[in-house]
Amino acid sequence: MFDQLNALPADPLLGLISAFRDDPNPNKVDLGVGVYRDESGHTPIMTSIQKAAKQHMEKEDSKTYIGPGGVVGFVEGIKQLVLGNESSALSSSRLAGLQTPGGCGALRVGSELLMRLKGELTVWVSDPTWANHIPLINSAGLKIKTYPYFDPSTGAVNFEAMDQKLAEFGPNDIVLLHGCCHNPTGADLSFENWQRIAERASKQGFIPFVDIAYQGLGDGLIEDVKGVRYLSEQIEEMVIATSCSKNFGLYRERVGTLLIQTKDSNQANALQTQIQDVARANYSMSPAYGGFLVDTVLNDSSLRTEWENELNAMAIRVKSLRSGLLEKIQQKDIEKDFSFITQQKGMFTYLGINKQQVRQLRDDFSIYMADSSRINVAGLNTQCLDYVADALKAVL
Ligand code: LMR
Repeated sequence: MFDQLNALPADPLLGLISAFRDDPNPNKVDLGVGVYRDESGHTPIMTSIQKAAKQHMEKEDSKTYIGPGGVVGFVEGIKQLVLGNESSALSSSRLAGLQTPGGCGALRVGSELLMRLKGELTVWVSDPTWANHIPLINSAGLKIKTYPYFDPSTGAVNFEAMDQKLAEFGPNDIVLLHGCCHNPTGADLSFENWQRIAERASKQGFIPFVDIAYQGLGDGLIEDVKGVRYLSEQIEEMVIATSCSKNFGLYRERVGTLLIQTKDSNQANALQTQIQDVARANYSMSPAYGGFLVDTVLNDSSLRTEWENELNAMAIRVKSLRSGLLEKIQQKDIEKDFSFITQQKGMFTYLGINKQQVRQLRDDFSIYMADSSRINVAGLNTQCLDYVADALKAVL
């Protein structure tokens, strides 16, 4: 039976990890997979997380199941982190939520829930979007289409085109939005854009599905979710997928949440049973460990302050690499305008070069990035900025 299946090519993004590892060039630069790196190229364990792990190890006295919703304190902590203590959805108990295996688990459980409710829904994703959105949503059985988003000529969002498309949507449409630090482009919606989306969603009845995986890595923990919080206050129903991979550095722990905002607390209670049922049918229960660590950090005031400072330092480092790269590029007299690099947010930027130039950077300079020319800015360091700018000049 299995001889009908052929081997698949390597995942275009994950394949870069092994290609980079096997490259002997001492000047190689890894701008591929989206993980935070420090100046030495290392993805560190945050000190606040290390302390939480120690505390948890001393406290944990059992490895029995924690239940289908995951670590309850963790889920409550994430609700507050994303929507804020003032959230009316929170105070009126209109939020169902469970811990999931990473943000991917949340996207998948959320998509299956939507499929269960209404099979004829279409999920609209930005053009472009994170590559894994498509298989995650598609494999739940939902139709997926794109709305216009990124304007390569400005390196920013073409909101006029997006808004024109949103005007066509109604109750059978789900609009997937990146909460902040858009992956792959780094081009974010402005607060005015969020206001417009909220107005349309409440009038036309489409449901926003917000994926937020980089809170705190753009302009700050609160600033990054200003739009999401506004949306939540203006509309009754929405879906939110969160991830702690990047802002808590818990990539391999697989820790995320799915939150569903509903009209009232009765609906939220019903939905809680539904999302737990979807999870049960997929993987039964999520891993607990990462949830315990985040719960500990969020609920211990000194660890929380330490974590916020660490996260802030990461965001500052990424911003300074953005300006550093732009400065070097400008010193090289490259004709193409790269000023969008410092206007975009979070870990990613689209360089806007073609696939052949991307390949040339890889083959001739050992600089690795996605074929789309998305770079992980956090993969740069102060030592390699000149080298990268020179290489860019050469391929342009
Ligand atoms: C990325 O976009 O590079 C990360 O989110 C890693 C992944 O799984 O694609």
